[in-house]
Amino acid sequence: MSNWKKRLAAGVLAFITLALAAVPYWPWEEAPADREAIGGAKIPAGPYVALTFDDGPRAATTTVLLDGLAQRGVHATFFVIGENVEGNELLLQRMEGEGHQIGMHTYHHKSLDQLNAAGFYAEVDSLRATLTALLGREEFMLRPPYGMMNAATQARAAAPIVLWSVDPEDWSDRDTARQVEVITENTQDGDIILLHDIYPASVETALQVVDTLMAKGFHFVTVEELFAVRGKTPENGTVYRRLPPSSAG
Ligand code: NI
Repeated sequence: MSNWKKRLAAGVLAFITLALAAVPYWPWEEAPADREAIGGAKIPAGPYVALTFDDGPRAATTTVLLDGLAQRGVHATFFVIGENVEGNELLLQRMEGEGHQIGMHTYHHKSLDQLNAAGFYAEVDSLRATLTALLGREEFMLRPPYGMMNAATQARAAAPIVLWSVDPEDWSDRDTARQVEVITENTQDGDIILLHDIYPASVETALQVVDTLMAKGFHFVTVEELFAVRGKTPENGTVYRRLPPSSAG
């Protein structure tokens, strides 16, 4: 993806976010944490944070990431692209087997607000079918490329739509030191961090962030666990996002 497209998309998303300033925080914002929901007392009390990775898998970089997460006992969420799953089926099964969550990021990284019904089903339902054939289940959350969507997207999704709340724009400079600083200074309880597991620098960022935030008491969970620990059930077609505190009203 060209950087200007991503910058444009980010700008549009920021505008949409401001326009929706009345939208509340994550649904779990007001709810107390329930450790029993994600494994009982062996799970430490929060704060909880979810690492999410878009655009993969990419064998060289995703493998290093999975190794690092396994060493740290950390689960993350991967919003995968269908065409990148091709040839990396064993990597997907490893993710699933090691406790990570797998979600959808379209088959060819298409902007969902630009698609008609046939296009939408080709991008999302085809990926769901690919993942179902591989993993034996049908429920996968959806993250729209660029965060772009419209009412039709929500109506067609047949999945909870999950955005993010901490975005270091790792694609823009591949600078681990800067990205780690942005993330560790801005992450709070309940945040969802956006990175891309297709870049070596982003993999290094993720592992440094885990080490830094775990030392501060954060517990890393999947997006599903982030809902579960607050006793919330994600709804199909609902967009889950978090606004900056200044726009919370
Ligand atoms: Ni993407």
